[in-house]
Amino acid sequence: MKKDLISIKDLSGDEIKAIFDLTTQLKKDKANFNKALAGKTLALIFQKPSNRTRVSFEVGMYQLGGNSIYLSPEEINLGVRESIDDVAKTLSRYVQAIVLRTFEHKNCLKMARGASVAVINGLSDFSHPCQALADLYTVQEKLKTLKNITLAYVGDGNNVCNSLLFICAKLGVNMNLGCPKGFEPDKIVLKESIALAKKNQASINLYNNPKLAVKDVDVIYTDVWASMGQEKEAAARKKRFKNFQVNKNLVKLAKKSVLIMHCLPAHL
Ligand code: NVA
Repeated sequence: MKKDLISIKDLSGDEIKAIFDLTTQLKKDKANFNKALAGKTLALIFQKPSNRTRVSFEVGMYQLGGNSIYLSPEEINLGVRESIDDVAKTLSRYVQAIVLRTFEHKNCLKMARGASVAVINGLSDFSHPCQALADLYTVQEKLKTLKNITLAYVGDGNNVCNSLLFICAKLGVNMNLGCPKGFEPDKIVLKESIALAKKNQASINLYNNPKLAVKDVDVIYTDVWASMGQEKEAAARKKRFKNFQVNKNLVKLAKKSVLIMHCLPAHL
């Protein structure tokens, strides 16, 4: 049966740990994996700009012996030139997996429903699971453990924040949120991740004050204040988020060894 990755919720904590173990093996011994995806093709459908996600998938496929095909927004014109369901069914006859970067999250769900091959969410307005996987792997690599650590997310409770909430909850990593009022993460995501975290002996705390969120934490994570598609709100958001800037004054409240992370691109 195919397995999609639309949300971090699609993976159990053990599956995430297995992905991390495989990543460690692969990084140590690339040569042994250079035929792992031989004969396999990945389709990349991107409706939004991408640097890291696209390059990671394309280089990854190449290094693992497979192949990728990038399909630009103009070429596919998803839902206009052809329905998502038709694109899903057609591509399923050619490729072994599809990555979709899109605006509305429901497009990912539609693609997954229509495709008989695996569909991976390469970012939607609601979540960015691949980003969260790479981030928590990096935290583990840098800190050598994910036990008894706290990650503070400062800024907009957006797609990246939603995925970080789920992955921290699944891996038992404590998370503090420092978001302005009205820019907190999705209510359901928050409720579900708090419950999940509890099961894994971790806690999630929401503050509207960034100073409280970063106190003594191991990691500070932030993102842009206006995400892709919100360009028109940029000026208003700049005012609203001005006290949520990750600067020297904020960083000095965290542990001395704090890691600073940003999913990039970084711009005001
Ligand atoms: N919040 C960002 C994530 C970029 C990787 C966006 O959706 O624009």
